[in-house]
Amino acid sequence: MRAILVDASGELPRLALGEAPDPELVPSGLRLRVAATAVNRADLLQARGLYPPPPGASPILGLECAGEVLETGSDVSGWRPGDRAMALLPGGGYATQVVVDAGSALRVPDRLTFEQAAAVPEVFFTVFLNVFQLAAFPEGGAALVHGGGSGIGTAAIQLVKHAHGTIVVTAGSEAKCARCRALGADVAVNYNEGDFVAACREATADRGVDVVLDSIGASYLVRNIEALALGGRLVLIGLMGGAQAELNLGQLLARRLSVIGSTLRARPVAEKAAIVAGFQSRFGSALEKGEIAPVVDRVLPLEQAGEAHRIVQASEHFGKVVLRVA
Ligand SMILES: NC(=O)c1ccc[n+]([C@@H]2O[C@H](COP(=O)([O-])OP(=O)(O)OC[C@H]3O[C@@H](n4cnc5c(N)ncnc54)[C@H](OP(=O)(O)O)[C@@H]3O)[C@@H](O)[C@H]2O)c1
Repeated sequence: MRAILVDASGELPRLALGEAPDPELVPSGLRLRVAATAVNRADLLQARGLYPPPPGASPILGLECAGEVLETGSDVSGWRPGDRAMALLPGGGYATQVVVDAGSALRVPDRLTFEQAAAVPEVFFTVFLNVFQLAAFPEGGAALVHGGGSGIGTAAIQLVKHAHGTIVVTAGSEAKCARCRALGADVAVNYNEGDFVAACREATADRGVDVVLDSIGASYLVRNIEALALGGRLVLIGLMGGAQAELNLGQLLARRLSVIGSTLRARPVAEKAAIVAGFQSRFGSALEKGEIAPVVDRVLPLEQAGEAHRIVQASEHFGKVVLRVA
């Protein structure tokens, strides 16, 4: 098959199309012809050798895809060749074929193209896992999500609004803040100018937010804790602002706060299947009806994966950058 291969010998990784062996079908697997995949910030780290794939996962980049089922494993029921699938992957999406555990796949709703569907799994399942399953976001509650213009942020705005919640987001420019508001964010704070703690207090009549979804880490830790309501939950999913921080534990104790660290990729397939099924049960019909939808910033051909990484690294995008595979 064709796949993007990484040459990490230079100062910056070079991404180029090459040949790789076809993945082997396993009894619980689906073989997909990949029609589209999408870029995640984790891919940028992996290309630089900073985020190795979990044991047993494909070394090829790509955490999600959409495409057509070519073949099903002997233990798989409910899928047939020709079905349209979108899937969460532990790796391997930047390729013309992938084998994925059937529990990590969902049917593509009729209204979505493969290019739109490829932008769904990683960010919608991550937000669902962390905000709704781990942090038990209450119907009508309040959330703070950093990077409102990211793939994660654009998914979070829609899921929180669908749950009748209030959502405060941060972004690095007024233009991105305006787009977050247009997508449904109640408040969008330009983090270069505004104070997101004050914005959370104002949006919640001084109560604070129930959940913070944070991909920044150290540099926001103290302020994230300040933004939480009594009993609030901070879920840490990224470390773009560093990993070492100091925290007054008295705050956690007195205000009964929880800090949860979470990754999706390395979870066992059974856990992923439960997340995917949970998402389908809670938000599947909203996705089918178009009440929630992936935000696709642009679509590039797979051979331009290097350019797609440059765009995401520079945060020039709003939502997801998709790669058209075939
Ligand atoms: N743990 C997990 O399972 C998991 C799964 C998926 C993603 N993630 C993490 O979630 C984060 C988002 O992922 P993604 O793929 O959606 O990334 P992405 O689209 O590349 O977005 C990153 C965003 O962060 C914003 N940003 C940068 N510095 C910021 C700051 N100081 N404050 C607020 N926003 C800031 C950037 O835009 P502007 O600065 O222009 O606003 C950009 O929109 C990444 O850290 C990723 O690793 C974790």
